[in-house]
Amino acid sequence: MILEHGPSGSGMQLNGTARRIWELTDVPIDLDTLCGRVASEFEVSRRECDDAVRAFLDELACHGLVEEVAEAPGDAATRSRYLDLLKRSLVNLVYPEHELRIELLEEHGRSGGPRPTEQLLRDIRYRSPAAFDELVASKRDGSVRHRRPSRFSHTMVGMERLDNLEYCARKVFADGVPGDFLEAGVCQGGAAIFMRGLQVAFGEADRRVWLADSFQGLPLPTHEIDRAWDLDWSEARQPWLACDLPAVQDNFRTYDLLDDGVRWLPGWFSETLPSAPVERLAILRADADLYQSTREVLESLYDRVSPGGFVVIDDYGGVDACRLAVDSFRAERGITDPLRRIDWTGVYWRREG
Ligand SMILES: C[S@@+](CC[C@H](N)C(=O)[O-])C[C@H]1O[C@@H](n2cnc3c(N)ncnc32)[C@H](O)[C@@H]1O
Repeated sequence: MILEHGPSGSGMQLNGTARRIWELTDVPIDLDTLCGRVASEFEVSRRECDDAVRAFLDELACHGLVEEVAEAPGDAATRSRYLDLLKRSLVNLVYPEHELRIELLEEHGRSGGPRPTEQLLRDIRYRSPAAFDELVASKRDGSVRHRRPSRFSHTMVGMERLDNLEYCARKVFADGVPGDFLEAGVCQGGAAIFMRGLQVAFGEADRRVWLADSFQGLPLPTHEIDRAWDLDWSEARQPWLACDLPAVQDNFRTYDLLDDGVRWLPGWFSETLPSAPVERLAILRADADLYQSTREVLESLYDRVSPGGFVVIDDYGGVDACRLAVDSFRAERGITDPLRRIDWTGVYWRREG
């Protein structure tokens, strides 16, 4: 590849490494992330890489081919505030009272009692402070423990599990771990929307986010372990867990995060995941509840997780069948990377080798 520059049309011949650096600067990227990516992709020491990248960028800047923009001290803080607002919107911590209002009106419909007054609906947060506190607590650690699962937020995953995703993504970006992000079990799409938000916010939008789901809810339990626990959460029994693909795409649009970097794998995992055109993953997030589904995710995708990448399991503490799937898979594969707790149900590990 030859880069032409200047009125004379003089050029610069790029070898493989230089060509990759040039590609990576196609989107705004900070120096630390750039060096991390190059060091890991070309297996050179970070020090050697930093010097070489710096020298090459200086040369490009000399010819006006790249522009170095100092990140204002406020930028990192602004990014963190964007991500925080994104998380609070996704779990519905911005207007949580609406959920109490809906519940009150549902109750009114069931009981046929007097219609709640406008003032009660408006001030419900102050009129029912215990219910409000309980609702907010459920948004922090993910719905089910405190109350019934949230049907109305774009994710059932609470703030703590979204914080964990942010932690994993920051590590992946800083260390230059190659690969896309994938969530298996997306429901309304909230956690996956946050994954794309992280990539965009950190200038890592050339990675992809893959979404694998039936988009018609959970399958009927067929494995003996799922049947033993009577885990029938299929559409007939739990219709709110079935969210169709256009609705999930609309949710991405709501956050202005639907673009070509978001890729869809619609169908049952057993049919979509083994042949999915996903090469490398930096974050694999399994949120599929069942033994069978969790095993299918790990069996099909674990080998595609890059060294230094993360495996996140949403339902480990909350669903015994999921825990058995993870424990049996780790034992069979001899995985000893420490399993770390996120909250009462989520766990993750970082793939060492
Ligand atoms: C608990 S929900 C996921 C919640 C979501 N991650 C969020 O942010 O709220 C579980 C999802 O897994 C999907 N699912 C479970 N097993 C599946 C399978 N074998 N094939 C395809 N989709 C499956 C269901 O359709 C459902 O959308």
